[in-house]
Amino acid sequence: MNDRFLRACRRQPTDCTPIWLMRQAGRYMPEYRAVRERYGFLEMVKRPEVAAAITMQPINAFALDAAIIFADILPPLEGMGIDLTFEQGEGPVIHNPLRTPADVAALRQPDPHETAAFTLEAIRLVRRELAGRVPLIGFSGAPFTLASYAIEGGGSRDYRRTKQFMYSQPEAWHLLMQKLTTLVIDYLLAQVEAGAQAVQVFDSWAGALAPFDYTIYVLPYVQQCATRLRETGVPTIYFGTDMNGLLPLLRQIDVDVLGVDWRIYLDDAWAQLGPGFAVQGNLDPTTLFAPWPELEQRATDILNRAGGREGHIFNLGHGIQTETPVENVRRLIEYVHEASQI
Ligand code: CP3
Repeated sequence: MNDRFLRACRRQPTDCTPIWLMRQAGRYMPEYRAVRERYGFLEMVKRPEVAAAITMQPINAFALDAAIIFADILPPLEGMGIDLTFEQGEGPVIHNPLRTPADVAALRQPDPHETAAFTLEAIRLVRRELAGRVPLIGFSGAPFTLASYAIEGGGSRDYRRTKQFMYSQPEAWHLLMQKLTTLVIDYLLAQVEAGAQAVQVFDSWAGALAPFDYTIYVLPYVQQCATRLRETGVPTIYFGTDMNGLLPLLRQIDVDVLGVDWRIYLDDAWAQLGPGFAVQGNLDPTTLFAPWPELEQRATDILNRAGGREGHIFNLGHGIQTETPVENVRRLIEYVHEASQI
């Protein structure tokens, strides 16, 4: 079994640097688009055989060191009573966004064994299909990022409604964050039980917050998730974008790996986190549209900054983009393995 990814999460030596790519199963792959023609996005997530087959597509196409279960961060909110659709070209839309403390009080606390059974079954199918080839990563949205979708009703530029809710209804905010924290923990524990060998918590938009607000309104809940998940013994990864000003705070979180975006040098981020963390990242996903020599130079710089230290997982600083050239993805993966060999 290829366990480079799990070893790197635990800061153990590896024969070369492991690599996987956030959103590695997606529209940039012709195999994905072929399946997508036949199903809606949520339908793909909710059919375990389809989700399992899509999870395997990038594993069969490239020499990746980890699989990530094909799902999304938002469907688990449906079990709380949130009404979600994905609209053509618009992304996620929540039709009953949270606007009042009463809306928060009315949210159910679902059992993911019932409301996310499709993803748990997909995990079991993928583990069987992988037969130990590479480890399988499970994931969840983080409480803040989930709250931001639930309140805004979709994506947002400035998270104004979310921040307004936080500032003007602090009690309801804390209740919402506690309900979401319980959801994240229950959901990820169920994924580990189903066979996930590492878990990643996506706090994609928490970087919109000032450190002052992150400390009061978000950090305690991330910590609660991290502390409970650490008890499982599987490696835990916390990822966000635009969080480089928050790195000194993130040091407090009890996770094994921190995901870093491209807006900072990898060695600078690592120095701020200290030696107690593995680091995942941090190539700008748009670099994959560059001619190979430019892409190679940037990949080399990241490897040089990691400097052969134990605990580097090569990844992008955010998800791979829709029209990314497949050939560059293949070359990047091969190059990271070759160039980092000891
Ligand atoms: O990494 C993987 O391959 C696993 C699959 C995965 C998806 N979404 C599949 C997906 C993961 C880990 C996610 C996480 C996710 N989903 C995040 C956090 C990571 C990030 O990118 O910041 C967020 C914010 C979402 C919410 C979401 N889902 C949005 C905003 C969108 C629309 C944008 C888009 O790219 O279309 C999605 C849809 C989505 N999730 C797609 C995929 C493959 C595209 C759906 C399609 O085929 O139309």
